[in-house]
Amino acid sequence: MSEQGGGPHRVLLIVSGGIAAYKVLEVIRRLRTHGVAVRCVLTRAGAQFVTPLSLQALSEDKVYDDLFSLTDESEMGHIELSRQADLLVVAPASADILARMAAGMADDLATTVLLATDKPVLVAPAMNVRMWEHPATRDNLATLIRRGVSVIGPSEGAMACGEYGPGRLVEPDQLAAAILRRLGLESAATEQDTAPKQSAPDGGLPLAGRRALVTSGPTHEPIDPVRYIANRSSGRQGHAIAEALAALGAEVTLVSGPTQLPDPPGVTTVRIESAEEMLAACNHALPVDVAICAAAVADWKVAERAPGKIKKQQGTAPPALELAENPDILRTLSARGKARPQLVIGFAAETDRVVERAVAKRQSKGCDWMLANDVAEGTGTFGGDDNAIHFVTADGVEDWPRQTKRAVAETLARRVAAHLGAASHDEAAE
Ligand code: CTP
Repeated sequence: MSEQGGGPHRVLLIVSGGIAAYKVLEVIRRLRTHGVAVRCVLTRAGAQFVTPLSLQALSEDKVYDDLFSLTDESEMGHIELSRQADLLVVAPASADILARMAAGMADDLATTVLLATDKPVLVAPAMNVRMWEHPATRDNLATLIRRGVSVIGPSEGAMACGEYGPGRLVEPDQLAAAILRRLGLESAATEQDTAPKQSAPDGGLPLAGRRALVTSGPTHEPIDPVRYIANRSSGRQGHAIAEALAALGAEVTLVSGPTQLPDPPGVTTVRIESAEEMLAACNHALPVDVAICAAAVADWKVAERAPGKIKKQQGTAPPALELAENPDILRTLSARGKARPQLVIGFAAETDRVVERAVAKRQSKGCDWMLANDVAEGTGTFGGDDNAIHFVTADGVEDWPRQTKRAVAETLARRVAAHLGAASHDEAAE
């Protein structure tokens, strides 16, 4: 149901400059098929690639552009324009508009509307690979993600400029599905997901259209307003996995405890502190195709958090902390019945009898795969750059060579893609 109460769901689609702008015509068509009202704002650069007339014909609504005049303003103020939508989508989102959004500029209608809105914003970047990889763009994106903007894509492939790499706008079916899902139109989104995909010989990504959830970092369990119980997890492995899945085209939600790391670009990061908050954020991110629990969740919380700072009292014994068990997120996700992700993956941090314990832990947690690592003192795994993994599945154990956490993440992402690809192939064959 639309937030306007009863009316259709409404999307304000901001089309900025880029050769991929033509793809949004198909996105509008798909959204209209599902009864979504689409109103377009076309930037000056966008108008070089797609005409107001085509947007108007498909959206069956007036197109707002920089010629937005005082007459228009009296009919529909720019604040109204942003508030009358349930969701704002910027597609294609050029490097330029991302930079202007991050800087909080309001120098044309599109950025004014984006600055004035109180509605969720989804951006679908598309640009030359070098522009995408430039630290300025990465910083801008990290800023926007931190402020709650969601990102889909870009995908990887041959680009109009002749280069190859990430920077292509995601395909219309993926973008339409992501928009429908954010509007709460789950079954319409699934229809898009399962519609026969156009073959993309020039670089369709193996996890395109797939949704992934990753937990990362430690949790902080409050004792009182100034103290907490924590552990040494840096979050590096979980963050690298989120980034590697996104690089293969997945729509990734990263639920992270407190870390020093920047939010990975192209990933929706939800920052939490305690295990209970982590579980709530994970439940909120469902449904997903794959869930990977890489967080070092505290097993215990303080049974009763003190409302004020616990004071030291001369001559009395130190206070005894009573602990209570935290929810087990991996076990909970593995036992979600119909809502269970197709693939649930955990990590086993062990200090001795690593493989034996990981094999037992995979079974007791009910997950599909377990990545076991030795976290004994002296291995440098916690907080370090490298990881030596024993990969445990129902079929047995593989020992992966010691490699960087980034390489572990990339290997795992490829395994996930191969598994989900093979599974959907089997379904199609049935
Ligand atoms: N995990 C979780 N929620 C918890 C505890 C652990 O999701 N409350 C997940 C971790 O993210 C990891 C896996 O469970 O993927 C195993 O974590 P580990 O700390 O090795 O195991 P524990 O469950 O704590 O078991 P033990 O104390 O016996 O080692």
